[in-house]
Amino acid sequence: MSKAIRIFENGGPEVLQWVDVEVGEPGPGEIRLRQEAVGLNYIDVYFRTGLYKQPLPGGIGMEGAGVVEAVGEGVTHLRVGDRVAYAGRPTGAYAQVRVMPADIVVKLPDAVSFEQAAAMMLQGLTVQYLVRDTYRVQPGDTVLLHAAAGGVGLIACQWLKALGATVIGTVGSDEKAELARQHGCDHPVVYTRESFLERVKDITGGKGVPVVYDSIGQQTFHDSLDCLSPRGMMVSFGNASGPVPPVDLSLLASKGSLKLTRPTIATYVTNRALLEPMAAELFEVVQSGKVKIEVNQRYALADAAQAHRDLEARRTTGSTVLLPNG
Ligand SMILES: NC(=O)c1ccc[n+]([C@@H]2O[C@H](COP(=O)([O-])OP(=O)(O)OC[C@H]3O[C@@H](n4cnc5c(N)ncnc54)[C@H](OP(=O)(O)O)[C@@H]3O)[C@@H](O)[C@H]2O)c1
Repeated sequence: MSKAIRIFENGGPEVLQWVDVEVGEPGPGEIRLRQEAVGLNYIDVYFRTGLYKQPLPGGIGMEGAGVVEAVGEGVTHLRVGDRVAYAGRPTGAYAQVRVMPADIVVKLPDAVSFEQAAAMMLQGLTVQYLVRDTYRVQPGDTVLLHAAAGGVGLIACQWLKALGATVIGTVGSDEKAELARQHGCDHPVVYTRESFLERVKDITGGKGVPVVYDSIGQQTFHDSLDCLSPRGMMVSFGNASGPVPPVDLSLLASKGSLKLTRPTIATYVTNRALLEPMAAELFEVVQSGKVKIEVNQRYALADAAQAHRDLEARRTTGSTVLLPNG
């Protein structure tokens, strides 16, 4: 018997229940993983509230790191005893031990700790595809990044800086502005007292930016579009303030042949041909020191509800891990 968080209904943090679970043997294509650290991500909130649907009762969480305990038939890239990590579906990462598909799991370099891995797989792979694939950032680009002091945000600030970009990043407080600055954000904008649209226009001399990375959604979508230069790309990749309502596509024409995309990490991590080089590049930027992965909050996995309260109340910065045995 081991312990895991299960949800039996959608709702507030209180629906996260710490329960006994039976974990069986891995089937074909699966492994059993004993987890040392689990990642906390905003997407966990969407699954908990029901914004993102899944059958209930069910597990929650999409990221973890640990040691392979058993390997099912047909799994060739992993062995018992391997140190590994993953990001992606199916949900169920909030667990001491889990059986899961092997194809989203990668081996960890010795230099990457379990906590670092759990702090960076989902957010770091997200930043990788955002800045290297969705819009391939070039030296000299000026980009707008929302939630710059968050988990995705602090990794993105560092990676964008390493690529030679100038980063304009929105944050909710002066403390977060300072943190973003320390991680490479050239122009933190405290949006609670200043308009990011005006700041972008000032900083770019009225030209706008070629790309906006917007994970806030409803509250920022339209001002973000107005920050773009003609032919710029709006990357809407999250909904922290609520989902973006349907968009009138003719807006993209009238604002200058803009591009709009709504990417998800799911597309990338379910395709090993994409995942392997993405993970290799993430490990490389981390091991080179260009991107430092700091764990700014730790909670016992049993206290996941408190972690969710703090994340939603914007009390966290950077990455957060949940400790299954802590
Ligand atoms: N599409 C994908 O593949 C993908 C993958 C990973 C993450 N994401 C998205 O990226 C975003 C960041 O994820 P994360 O896990 O790193 O979370 P996070 O950025 O650490 O936390 C969310 C932050 O968003 C800001 N925020 C602005 N408006 C908010 C509101 N109404 N309610 C709560 N927070 C608000 C807060 O920062 P301030 O106080 O500075 O405003 C808050 O700290 C999320 O929207 C997530 O869904 C998308």
